Amino acid sequence: MSERKILIFDTTLRDGEQSPGASLHTQEKLLIAHQLATLGVDVIEAGFAAASPGDFDAINQVAKEVKGPVIASLARATKRDVEKAGEAIAPAERKRLHTFIATSPVHVEKKLRMNYDAVIDAAVNAVKLARNYTDDVEFSAEDATRSDWDYLCNICEKVINAGATTINIPDTVGYTTPQEYYELITYLKNKIPNIDKAIISVHCHNDLGMATANSLSAVLAGAGQVECTINGLGERAGNASLEEVVMALKTRADFYKGCYTDINTKEIYKTSRLVSKLTGLHIQRNKAIVGENAFAHEAGIHQDGVIKEKSTYEIMKPQDVGIDVSRLVLGKHSGKHGLDKRLKELGYNLDKDQINSVFEQFKTLCDKKKEIYDEDLRALVEDKFKIVPQIYELVSLQVVSGTNTSPTATIKLTKNGEIFEDAALGDGPVDATYKALERLTYVKGKLKSYDIKAITEGKDAIGEVIVKVYFEDIDKTILGRGSATDIVEASAKAYLDAINKALMYM
Ligand code: KIV
Ligand code: ZN
Repeated sequence: MSERKILIFDTTLRDGEQSPGASLHTQEKLLIAHQLATLGVDVIEAGFAAASPGDFDAINQVAKEVKGPVIASLARATKRDVEKAGEAIAPAERKRLHTFIATSPVHVEKKLRMNYDAVIDAAVNAVKLARNYTDDVEFSAEDATRSDWDYLCNICEKVINAGATTINIPDTVGYTTPQEYYELITYLKNKIPNIDKAIISVHCHNDLGMATANSLSAVLAGAGQVECTINGLGERAGNASLEEVVMALKTRADFYKGCYTDINTKEIYKTSRLVSKLTGLHIQRNKAIVGENAFAHEAGIHQDGVIKEKSTYEIMKPQDVGIDVSRLVLGKHSGKHGLDKRLKELGYNLDKDQINSVFEQFKTLCDKKKEIYDEDLRALVEDKFKIVPQIYELVSLQVVSGTNTSPTATIKLTKNGEIFEDAALGDGPVDATYKALERLTYVKGKLKSYDIKAITEGKDAIGEVIVKVYFEDIDKTILGRGSATDIVEASAKAYLDAINKALMYM
């Protein structure tokens, strides 16, 4: 059986960020990009440079800092877009310019309002211009699966002649089926005369729930690159999920005829959690591979089978995707050394001062909570060391509320070592807290959503609050996160996190 490497093109930071409700700060994108490099993806599509100065900056930073994968930017097939993308990726060691134009009748006639020859000219010119910035140029025929197959062959042949090295055949609206997509890829392979000079890539959306199946079907037909996202994020119903595609190829290597990827699957769970945390988009419990229930066995008959022989009901080992099954870790008798060791295992390399300050908080937490799980430790570290610099920090919070009192919050914050204190009344304890924070920081926001969940089990669990706040002054909706055993404190930290992020734009 001959081996065939399938390239993994991750578009979490571009198509994934187009998910309704997901929006990432440059520092957060950098963190995800570093983790994607550790995961072993071949290409990171870091954004769409011409979309906004923020997007341009994020791609540029990723191109400067992240080593290993090829760094790509998306660009429409226009001079301005290609130039912006070329500039943004310039610092990368390995760079790709990804240009696209739509090819389906509905897009060409109704959206672009161009004639079909003009579309080919625009694609060819964009690819030629892109080659001035890099030898690695990808062309995407947007809405390829609703395009005329012979027209697709024609445009692909011309862009390959112009210098495209990857030809992407997106199922933009998640319309195709596994069988049809297999036939389309086979058709292109047989009909495009210079196809041997390019890699065929696939990019599937999940509108009918078939993104992973379609991608795998295209791999069987000969596609050499799969475009996907962590947790299946992406426009509307999302893109093919990286973890599903990769684990299907690994688990069913017998069926996929020796196709393999260079993904370090043990990093999958960690990457999935990081993306969920930073985008604020929770993973559904029964999501394949990374959902909470993915490796849980509820029915007695299943539990009995798994105890006797794991392979009765488990086709993958949780450890293969980096899920640690021995979850109970530390307690109040644990020392600093044990804490440091466990934090390193979880991927946090803290210096001596940082360990000391985490240890102090760990001990306080042990007084409130008997059992400390990995999730508690993660919340503790991530709450303490925020990715986006914190201008204001919470020193103390006192809230009075009850049935016959007006809820009042008194808050102390620090900014550059100076202490500020103020109080406010509100409709409830959280409302009073948010009003006090606004008075103290002079930053006004509109709360768009508020979510709270227990990070671990039990009455003493840490509560995590995620807020989305709209700030009119910067015209942005920003996500804030905070955790604590006290849910009003967690709410305050989340709102303050959003304010601190907003201040970075002011
Ligand atoms: O879905 C799509 O067609 C895209 C292209 C821009 C690659 O995201
Ligand atoms: Zn897409």
